Amino acid sequence: MRPNPRWIIETGTKFGGSAIFFASLLTLCGQTRGGVLTVDLHLRPEAREGIAAHPHGHLVRAVVEGDAADPAIIRDFAARIARDPGPVLVFLDDDHNAEHVYREMQGYAPLVSPGSYLIVADTVFADLAGTPVGQTTEKYPDVLRSNPRVAINRFLDERTDFARVDPPIPHGPSNFHDGFLLRALLSLAPSGVEGASEMFSTGRMPRPACFSNPSTQRNVRRKR
Ligand SMILES: C[S@@+](CC[C@H](N)C(=O)[O-])C[C@H]1O[C@@H](n2cnc3c(N)ncnc32)[C@H](O)[C@@H]1O
Repeated sequence: MRPNPRWIIETGTKFGGSAIFFASLLTLCGQTRGGVLTVDLHLRPEAREGIAAHPHGHLVRAVVEGDAADPAIIRDFAARIARDPGPVLVFLDDDHNAEHVYREMQGYAPLVSPGSYLIVADTVFADLAGTPVGQTTEKYPDVLRSNPRVAINRFLDERTDFARVDPPIPHGPSNFHDGFLLRALLSLAPSGVEGASEMFSTGRMPRPACFSNPSTQRNVRRKR
């Protein structure tokens, strides 16, 4: 199985930079169908303009305004994908508060294809609490206790169909090296049932060929 994503869902469009990046990756991977679906609470005009002007911007199929965790938006994305189904990768990069990230993870997890990734950005946020870039703000009142890593740990504690893995791209620095969750190929038994997590620990999970790296499957981790 080669789960090259046909669809990439991104939460947190901002200026559209990562949407264009993902569209470019899809092009590099030979995708002409599918594309990028992106959502932001406050869409900037520059985002739409930049995406429209970019040579690969046509692969950004939807630029939606709203709360990424809103079930109506998740349903809208699901409906778009259902018109041309294919492997789906989800990238969460909007509000980094734990409760919000957790709700998004729950909402988007069913859209992630078996053998594909749910990627949570900026897990490094947890390590920055108290530093100049991790100061308490109105938006982030408690960085230490409310951050993406807290959400990931809660999510993984509750289910066995995802496991944290090393990033499939081997080189380079990252703000979220521990934010890569791989969805199991099969629907696994409920949490706690013997053998449920065996697929991960035995390294039998496939890699998305497009972003492949032979070391990816060797270092599957449940929790950090
Ligand atoms: C870290 S930036 C995204 C950067 C972008 N992914 C990139 O790499 O180019 C976070 C974005 O999330 C948006 N945002 C914050 N809360 C949100 C929410 N509940 N739903 C959707 N977007 C949200 C903000 O407006 C902001 O543009």
